Amino acid sequence: MAIIFLLLILSSCTSLVLSTDQNDVLVLLKIKEQLGNPDFLSAWVDGFDFCNNHTDVPTIHVYVSCTSTGRVNAISIGSLYWYPLSTTPFPQAICDLTELEYLSISKVGLYGPITCIDKLINLREVIIWRTFLGGPIPEFPNHNNLTRIDFDMNYFSGSIPPSLSKLPNLQTLNLHWNALSGSIPPGLVPSVSLVLSENGLTGEIPRCYEWANFDTLILSKNQLSGDASFLFGLHKTVTHMDLSYNQFEFDLSDVIIPEHLVSLDLSFNQIYGKVPKSIASASELQSLD
Ligand SMILES: *[C@@H]1O[C@H](CO)[C@@H](O)[C@H](O)[C@H]1NC(C)=O
Ligand SMILES: *[C@@H]1O[C@H](CO)[C@@H](O)[C@H](O)[C@H]1NC(C)=O
Repeated sequence: MAIIFLLLILSSCTSLVLSTDQNDVLVLLKIKEQLGNPDFLSAWVDGFDFCNNHTDVPTIHVYVSCTSTGRVNAISIGSLYWYPLSTTPFPQAICDLTELEYLSISKVGLYGPITCIDKLINLREVIIWRTFLGGPIPEFPNHNNLTRIDFDMNYFSGSIPPSLSKLPNLQTLNLHWNALSGSIPPGLVPSVSLVLSENGLTGEIPRCYEWANFDTLILSKNQLSGDASFLFGLHKTVTHMDLSYNQFEFDLSDVIIPEHLVSLDLSFNQIYGKVPKSIASASELQSLD
């Protein structure tokens, strides 16, 4: 009994990780197969201890980490340079890593839709950068722990799913440079950062953004319209705001620049009136267009 207790203490004090769960090993080998058995995964063979050995090769980054019980909880595959590592559809086997909390795929030539990510309910961060993945933005129906969705530079199309507004812990949503259309769902208020630039979004900014505590709000290069003056006000928390290249139309004369605003870009809109007097007291402002 005492020995078991001691072992428990030891294992909770050191970073000792059990060898990889056998079922997760089979899933990782399936992922390799679905990626077309690329050279950079040649170390991934049955018996390879994924949880305790990394397979970085120069310019390609492959990372797997595990819980203390040997279940895979993080997987990251990326290239430092832009060339397609693998040109296959999204490897569906990833969605069988049911303990996954962190998923990152960058500059891999994956294409087609992502259809199974709703199974990964433990996700905290999902990062998909510069791939050919497209189709609708996936929904995350039961992902209460999800804090970050970062889909920068892919080919996602259609409208932003309204269900993203229901994620209780979402801090960062980045959908920059996709092919999204439709309007911004009302209530889509990640707590820290919202980046929707370089899409084809239309309509007005949700009125509730008047009370949102964003740090970063980047909506440039869409076809958004209407009044955006309610985003301004002395005590607004925003530090970076870019509304450029849209069709916003409002009088700028009397807006109050938020006290912590560092950068503001309103260029290429139909904004009119005078330069607001409050610019003179915007002490943290470093960049203004
Ligand atoms: C990690 O894997 C490589 C390649 O399979 C192997 O040569 C190396 O001995 C392993 N390292 C550890 C610490 O198990
Ligand atoms: C979310 O995180 C908590 C605390 O770390 C954990 O107990 C829970 O299983 C996680 N998953 C979901 C879906 O809430």
